[in-house]
Amino acid sequence: MSKLRVAVVGTGLIANIKHLPAWTKLQGKGQVELVAICDINAENARKVADKFNVPNVHTDLAQLIAKEKPDIIDICTPPKTHCPLAVLAAEAGCHVMVEKPMAMNLEECDRIINAAKAKNVKIMCGHSDLFYRSFMKGKELLAKGAIGEFRGMRIFLSTPRDYITAKEDHWGNKLPGGVIGETGPHVVYMTLPFIPVIKEVGVFALKMLGEYPWSPYEDYRIELVGEKTACSIACTYTNSEWLCEVQLLGSYGMMTLDLETQAVTVYKRKDLKPTSAAFSQLRQARQLVTETFAVGARYLTGGVDSTHDIMCAEFVKAIQENKPSPVPGEEGRETIRVLNEIVGQLEQKYGKTIDSK
Ligand SMILES: NC(=O)c1ccc[n+]([C@@H]2O[C@H](COP(=O)([O-])OP(=O)(O)OC[C@H]3O[C@@H](n4cnc5c(N)ncnc54)[C@H](O)[C@@H]3O)[C@@H](O)[C@H]2O)c1
Repeated sequence: MSKLRVAVVGTGLIANIKHLPAWTKLQGKGQVELVAICDINAENARKVADKFNVPNVHTDLAQLIAKEKPDIIDICTPPKTHCPLAVLAAEAGCHVMVEKPMAMNLEECDRIINAAKAKNVKIMCGHSDLFYRSFMKGKELLAKGAIGEFRGMRIFLSTPRDYITAKEDHWGNKLPGGVIGETGPHVVYMTLPFIPVIKEVGVFALKMLGEYPWSPYEDYRIELVGEKTACSIACTYTNSEWLCEVQLLGSYGMMTLDLETQAVTVYKRKDLKPTSAAFSQLRQARQLVTETFAVGARYLTGGVDSTHDIMCAEFVKAIQENKPSPVPGEEGRETIRVLNEIVGQLEQKYGKTIDSK
C-alpha cells in the first residue's frame, strides 16, 4: 500500500508537542510520508521543519496543496481559521484532520461536512482525550457492566492559569465566552459517548482573578442534561495545576478515570460503616498501585502512545481500509452545538465577552 502524504498546517504548540511527533512516528513505521508544513509565520515554520526533518515549507495552504499533492491535511491552527482551511483542503480532495474545536459555529461545521461529502474524503476531529488509555478503559469497563447501568457522570478539569489565562494576547482569551471556547470542547465531547443526546444546558461563570482583566471568566460550572442522565462539569483556570478526572456513576458502583495519571479505579460503598469505607478505600488504593505500575512499566519500556499518536494512527487506518472516521465531522458538529449553547447561556446571563460584541 502506498504511503499517505501528510501535510501539517500551523506549527505552534500542539503541532510541535503532539501532531508532528505522531506523524514522525507513523513515518518511521512506513505508513505515511510527512511531506510539508505550512504556517503564516515563515520563520517559525522553517525552524519547525528543520526540527522534524520536513522537506517543504509553505506559508499558504492552497500553494502547498497544488505543489505537494498531500493525501491528508492536518489543521493545527487557531479555531477561527479551521473552517476556511478545512473547506479548502476537502475541496482539493484531501482527507482532513482538524484540531478541536472543529469550527466556530454550526454553519461552519456544515460547510466542512458538505465539502468532505462532495469529494468523498474523511474528516477526523481532534478529540484527543477520547484516546486516553484511562478514558478508553473506563468506557470498556462500563460497557462490560463493571458498575452496573450508567446513572450519570462528573468531569473536573483544571488547566493552569499560565497556559492561556495569564497570556493577554492568547487567542484563547478572545473566543466567545472566554477560555471555555478553547478547553470546553474537551469536556463536551467526553460527555457525548455516555450521554449522546444533550437536551438541556446550565452554566455559571466566575471572574476570579483581577490580575488578568482581559480574561472574562476563570471558573465555569456546567450542567449537561440528557434524556435520563446528566453530567456536571467544573472547568477551572485559577491555579497552577493540571487535573482531569472523569467520574462515572453506575447502578452499583463508581469509577474514576484519571486522564493525567491514566489510572482507572472502580469502587463501591454499600453502607456507611467505617469498616466498609476503609475496605473500599483499601481496594481503591490497591488498584491505584497496580495501575501505577502497569502504566509506569509501559512508559519505561517506551510502549506508551500519546493520545495524538493513537488518533493519527486510527485516522490513517480508517483511510487505508475505507472505514468511517473514528471521530467524524458530525461528532465535531454536535460538540460545537453544545459548546455554543453553553456560550449562548453565558452571554444571556452575564452579557457578551470581548470578542463576541
Ligand atoms: N487536543 C488538544 O489537547 C489540544 C491542545 C492544545 C491546542 N489544541 C488546539 O489546536 C489548535 C492550535 O492551538 P495551539 O495552542 O497550537 O495554537 P498556537 O497559537 O500555539 O499555534 C497556532 C499556529 O497556527 C499558525 N496560523 C494561524 N493562522 C494560520 C493560517 N491561516 N494558516 C497557517 N498557519 C496559521 C500560527 O502562526 C501559529 O504558529 C487550536 O484549535 C487548539 O484549540 C488542542
